[in-house]
Amino acid sequence: MMRFLRTVLQLILLLFVIGALAIIVVGTVMPLVPVPAVIVPATPDLASRGAYLFYHVSACVTCHSTRDQTLLSGPVVPGTEGGGGDAFNESAGVPGTIYGRNLTPAALLPWSDGEIARAITAGVGRHGNALFPLMPYQHYASATQKDVSALIAYLRSLKPIENVVPPRNLTFPMNLIVNLIPKAAHPEPVQPVVGTPEYGAYLVNLGACLHCHSIDHHGDIPPGMQFAGGRTFAIDGGTVRSSNLTSDKETGLGAWTKERFISAFAAFRQPTATIPVKPGEFNTPMPWSEYAGMTDTDLGAIFDYLHALPAVRNQVVKFSPTR
Ligand code: HEC
Ligand code: HEC
Repeated sequence: MMRFLRTVLQLILLLFVIGALAIIVVGTVMPLVPVPAVIVPATPDLASRGAYLFYHVSACVTCHSTRDQTLLSGPVVPGTEGGGGDAFNESAGVPGTIYGRNLTPAALLPWSDGEIARAITAGVGRHGNALFPLMPYQHYASATQKDVSALIAYLRSLKPIENVVPPRNLTFPMNLIVNLIPKAAHPEPVQPVVGTPEYGAYLVNLGACLHCHSIDHHGDIPPGMQFAGGRTFAIDGGTVRSSNLTSDKETGLGAWTKERFISAFAAFRQPTATIPVKPGEFNTPMPWSEYAGMTDTDLGAIFDYLHALPAVRNQVVKFSPTR
């Protein structure tokens, strides 16, 4: 009997030690993604492609600046571009609080090009820390090497903004789980031809449209619900839900023409698109004002790609006001 008890106790102790070791490894050693060997030439062509991605396709600027939520679609406050500081918490599905980091040279100057590339495409920070995947690095993982370099070239050219962003605070167990998510990037070897639906798919991925336009079930999209909309966003005045972007004729974009699609974005190109939103009224987290800067050709390619998606019937109520 005593022997049996001793064996049980030894087993419990062993499990405890293994558990403690696992927590130490996951908490301090993980994630293990090497810094890629990237050296970015500061050419104007590269930086201008980077600016296009930064403002209009990936709209990095929306999360890494201050947004003015008193205006429709929350455009970026001029002068804050890339300076970081906006907080994301439970209402954005984050267990804790994280902040868009400062990406201007005031913060990234000591980083190597490889370290920035690893953060963008593998979600690992300068000191080997894992980034919370609200930062859409899992999408950027398949960006071409050239586009990643373009982003870095542009970040290097941003006006430095001295803004010290607070450290993040993730609650247990996410503070450990987050370390298990990053993996090395898998860049597309060649960029699809501009104007084709394949290029549309490439842009949709870099725009991380899927993330907002699908319902979320504990971090996963239920099978068959990709792009079918319905993800909820809490805003001041109530709840906003993302639209169904699949080709369903009644509940999605199936009945839309390419012209209608492009004009929906183009409407935000006009200076008159600065539309004030009163408290309690509809506003949208979709960064229309930023996407509006995409060319008609690129928006058209996005439309062709979305229009070829299998139809999913899912009626979404866009806005439910609290009052
Ligand atoms: C949906 C919001 C969002 C978008 C879009 C986004 N980011 Fe981020 N990014 C974040 C957040 C939040 C963090 C901090 C994550 C954390 O602390 O765990 C971050 C972290 C980073 C970091 C690490 C900086 C540091 O100091 O550790 C880099 C570099 C970065 N982002 C670059 C980009 C680039 C380049 C793009 C566009 C291609 C982009 N981000 C788009 C939200 C976003
Ligand atoms: C931050 C979340 C977010 C991102 C990212 C996002 N959307 Fe949206 N989108 C929404 C929400 C919420 C709505 C519904 C409210 C509105 O109309 O603005 C919406 C509406 C739309 C509509 C209007 C459809 C209709 O029926 O009126 C289109 C088209 C659209 N999104 C396309 C896209 C594309 C293409 C991308 C990627 C380039 C994208 N969205 C990225 C949140 C997002």
